Amino acid sequence: MSSWSHRHVIDLAAFSEGDFATVLALAQRFRSLPVSGARKLPALQGRLMTTLFFEPSTRTRSSFELAARRLSADVQTFSPASSALSKGESLLDTALTYVAMGADLLVVRHRCAGVPRGLALALEAAGTSVSVLNAGDGLHSHPSQGLLDLFTLARHFQPDAPTPEALRGRRIVIVGDILHSRVARSNLWALTACGADVVFCGPPTLLPEAFASFLDAPPPGLQRDPVPQRGQLHLCRRLEDALPGADAVMTLRLQKERMQQHLLTSLDTYHRLYGLSHERLALCGRPVPVLHPGPVNRGVELAGRLLDDPQRSLVDEQVRNGVPVRMALLYLMATRDGGDGGQLA
Ligand code: NCD
Repeated sequence: MSSWSHRHVIDLAAFSEGDFATVLALAQRFRSLPVSGARKLPALQGRLMTTLFFEPSTRTRSSFELAARRLSADVQTFSPASSALSKGESLLDTALTYVAMGADLLVVRHRCAGVPRGLALALEAAGTSVSVLNAGDGLHSHPSQGLLDLFTLARHFQPDAPTPEALRGRRIVIVGDILHSRVARSNLWALTACGADVVFCGPPTLLPEAFASFLDAPPPGLQRDPVPQRGQLHLCRRLEDALPGADAVMTLRLQKERMQQHLLTSLDTYHRLYGLSHERLALCGRPVPVLHPGPVNRGVELAGRLLDDPQRSLVDEQVRNGVPVRMALLYLMATRDGGDGGQLA
């Protein structure tokens, strides 16, 4: 198993195939822990994780907090509305306040792309040893979501051995508001690194043609791609053309809060053209699972009956898998032991 070299986790574009294998193996190990009773591991005893969420969250923040507690870390939650930010304190000074209290790891969500990376660099420059984990920045990146989706798919295809190889040669269709989705971008880096082909499907307003060359240049901030050979990315305008041959379909929330102008004629039209249902999925030609990162606009991105169908919907499974995947990330960042479990006993 490869060693862990990432002090911060900002973007899955920086992950090698070995990094993905390490996270998946450790997540599988954590997932198999009993779900009640003695489910806490002492691994991060004495460590402090602080969540700094400047954007709303239901799943991600609670999932990180539960993951940290299951590893016996202390947890602190920053609430922007009741904080000194309203008195003019800068984000860096807020972060340094938590570092002074002993935070080892800051989990940061912000509506502006680049904030977690900027904060990580500023905290390094300030001489601290704290790590920053990006919990979603604007439309840029959401690495823990990309990893939990990868883990969920790998477990679906190979329940007993959810390795990156489980994704090789698969066709994964991602439908909807690609333009505003950090989840789509993180999934793209993760899935193609594991050898899957990704099809982005959506109307031109939510899936600009420029996405076609998204994987061509080295990932942002890197001289070269850490993955020598990736799966391919295809763009598709019509769901009817995207679905045949798919191995799994992920649909995304319409991110109305990020839309600068009217990009949709109506929600009804969107549902008619891009909404998922049992009938639509029949076009895949075989029974395929459906994923959604949540929160779901029921009846818009997918029909309620499909969302509630445990035979087809992996949405609850994604939420469940979020905890062991985040445990793996926290463990790796805090211990850098490469996931061979040296410090797990
Ligand atoms: C996503 C996010 O915040 O980017 N949600 C999540 O973390 N589960 C997707 C979304 O908000 O639509």
